[in-house]
Amino acid sequence: MWKFRRSGAFFGASFTGISVLAVAAVSDPLPPDATYRPLPTMPFSEVRRIDEAQKPDVMRRQRDLLDRRYDLSDRPMPEVMMSGGMKPVQDGIRVKLPADTSWDQLAEMTPAEIRDKNLLPEGFLPLPHVKQATGGQVFPNRQIDEIHVQEMRDLRRFDVDFDLPDNLTPEFPPPIFLTTHPELGDVSRGQLLTIKNFYEIMNGIITPVQMEGLRLLLTPFPQEEFNQTEDRKVADQSTGVSCLDCHSNFHTNAAFHLTPDVRPQADRFRLDTTSLRGLFNQQIHGSKRSLRSVEDFTEFEQRTAYFNGDHVSATRKGVNLPDRPNQVAMMAQMQNIIDFPPAPKLDPFGRLDPALATAQELSGEQIFIGKGRCADCHVPQTEFMDNNMHDLKLERFYKIGQVFNDFVTLPDGPIKTFTLRGIKDSPPYMHDGRLMTLADTVEFFNLVLGVKLTEQEKKDLVAYLLTL
Ligand code: HEC
Ligand code: HEC
Repeated sequence: MWKFRRSGAFFGASFTGISVLAVAAVSDPLPPDATYRPLPTMPFSEVRRIDEAQKPDVMRRQRDLLDRRYDLSDRPMPEVMMSGGMKPVQDGIRVKLPADTSWDQLAEMTPAEIRDKNLLPEGFLPLPHVKQATGGQVFPNRQIDEIHVQEMRDLRRFDVDFDLPDNLTPEFPPPIFLTTHPELGDVSRGQLLTIKNFYEIMNGIITPVQMEGLRLLLTPFPQEEFNQTEDRKVADQSTGVSCLDCHSNFHTNAAFHLTPDVRPQADRFRLDTTSLRGLFNQQIHGSKRSLRSVEDFTEFEQRTAYFNGDHVSATRKGVNLPDRPNQVAMMAQMQNIIDFPPAPKLDPFGRLDPALATAQELSGEQIFIGKGRCADCHVPQTEFMDNNMHDLKLERFYKIGQVFNDFVTLPDGPIKTFTLRGIKDSPPYMHDGRLMTLADTVEFFNLVLGVKLTEQEKKDLVAYLLTL
């Protein structure tokens, strides 16, 4: 392990010769092996100047990686929309195969063979943050623009931009479904909930406790990259970020970050924002932390100023310490009434109703439960998950310690099984967003689980996932 770190990311051979990027080490002096973040040593204006000068190269490097790994083009499925009815679901496998291989050939090989011949499609590997050395939260442009219009708050960073195209992110703004009012359907009125409009939109349909929880979830507090101190990554001093800046309308807008749970910096994996729909039945929270309640998660996200696992630097920036009985409890109660989108073809047992489902969807369900073994972990009841973490052991298929844009690939280890309810609404997939479409996830699990599905079975499985 030691040698990966030394040969690794920040000062290593991976980008010698690209002089602009070598400056990254100067403007963001994170020692590769540090646990603690050092205090800024340069004036803010200087850091900003260097970051801005580097930005085109940083973005080009990430675009090259994405283009090498994926087909990011806009190819919607005919007539399949996300739950709000406004955005098409994207079609097809987007992970690119290595030259002269096919998915079937790969599925016939042993993991060791794939590893030794370096044949795992690169898109199955962990996805780096757009700027691994700095990390931090990165918002998609539509979220940035809407928050600016409504609140005059600026979520745009000067050092990086969001890296995925709009067609591969969730619909925006997403619909909101309440467990307390199924008969109302989407209660968002097509708007993004913000501190400016939430009262008007929700008045009369939620309780005072839920309303206060919602207010707190929409209130910006200082965060690592968005705050008043000189180590921020926004031009103007910032009042911060709110919970629902990432969990837009309690769903996700594909904003990403780095995991708080791993050190050193080069090993921290990217985290794609999870949806908060259907939290009411979930028992463990966070891909790695396995916090045991929505209350724990809510309190902790605020205490450490989000995702850097660093209460020390959070304190310097002006952390908000929410009061557990009065504030956290209400924030949790509000989160716990957010429902999944309706799945009209599922019966009360979570099985497809044969009177409503197509033959292909029913066949997909049989594969999900039988040959594909998906139901071993994604239990087909309310949640389509098992409230466990599982180690998929993907590193059987690749050599660990490879460096991609300053990120060192190590084994993922155990990760929370995510719910599959409403799954068509939340691309990109997996904890780091490394897979763009449901067809990609089917190819991924086909290989990782060694279940050898046929072409037709894979298509049926995708058709089934769209019903959930
Ligand atoms: C920077 C974007 C961002 C902000 C801001 C943010 N979250 Fe999250 N949230 C995430 C990501 C990413 C995850 C997945 C974490 C993981 O996998 O470890 C997550 C996970 C969660 C979960 C656990 C979901 C699960 O899998 O069970 C809860 C609950 C949650 N957030 C609530 C909140 C609350 C409450 C706030 C405000 C105090 C907040 N979030 C602010 C991005 C964000
Ligand atoms: C051994 C347990 C296990 C089995 C079996 C399994 N999964 Fe998963 N699934 C997981 C875990 C764990 C994750 C999260 C992995 C990650 O993010 O790195 C996941 C994630 C997913 C996701 C992405 C969810 C999201 O929100 O991004 C999809 C889609 C999925 N699985 C579909 C399937 C299908 C289809 C099958 C069957 C072919 C299957 N899974 C079999 C454990 C399992």
